[in-house]
Amino acid sequence: MTVTLRHATVDDLMAVGALHQGSRVATYSSFLPPEALADPTSEALGAYWVERWTWERDEHRMTVAERDGRLVGFSYLGPDDEGDPATGLLNAIHLDPAERGRGTGRQLMVDALAAMRSRGWSRAVLWVLRENTVARRFYERGGWTPTGQSRNEHIGPVAVLQLRYARLL
Ligand SMILES: CC(C)(COP(=O)(O)OP(=O)(O)OC[C@H]1O[C@@H](n2cnc3c(N)ncnc32)[C@H](O)[C@@H]1OP(=O)(O)O)[C@@H](O)C(=O)NCCC(=O)NCCS
Repeated sequence: MTVTLRHATVDDLMAVGALHQGSRVATYSSFLPPEALADPTSEALGAYWVERWTWERDEHRMTVAERDGRLVGFSYLGPDDEGDPATGLLNAIHLDPAERGRGTGRQLMVDALAAMRSRGWSRAVLWVLRENTVARRFYERGGWTPTGQSRNEHIGPVAVLQLRYARLL
């Protein structure tokens, strides 16, 4: 039973939406109230990715991880959200909760970093929720460090703080 990575196609995006929502609920419900995660539905998040893909597919890259043909994770990367031409942004990395701790997150991360290098970027950045200590530990063990920047966001009606992390490629 091996995990294989491949570029996503538009046909993957509804399943990616369902996995993404499942991962958000499983991860964020430990520190966010239920009303924060009531929306979107898996279908709505799938439709969101279909819409986003339409606009971003030329400059962004989604990779899916499959175990025996079943979707178990994805990553999404693209240009820096602050416009630095030397920097790439890891927009998302999520696994099916049952897939955690098996090396698939590492596989997706190593692949994403290599893809960023191949695009000529020399630095990578990401945003992570301050309370998401599992992901922050994963990033820090992989060489990412907080830049000191933070931003206020909302998940549903709930205000949250995101921290910016960076690493050289
Ligand atoms: C974050 C997430 C993808 C990590 O996946 P995971 O299954 O927990 O991690 P894995 O078992 O695959 O890998 C962990 C290992 O990867 C290593 N690793 C991380 N980045 C690495 C890199 N760039 N190169 C090599 N190894 C790396 C870590 O050091 C760790 O190894 P260790 O335990 O020996 O130190 C997963 O926990 C998840 O989906 N969480 C919920 C969603 C989420 O929070 N996403 C991020 C939102 S910002």
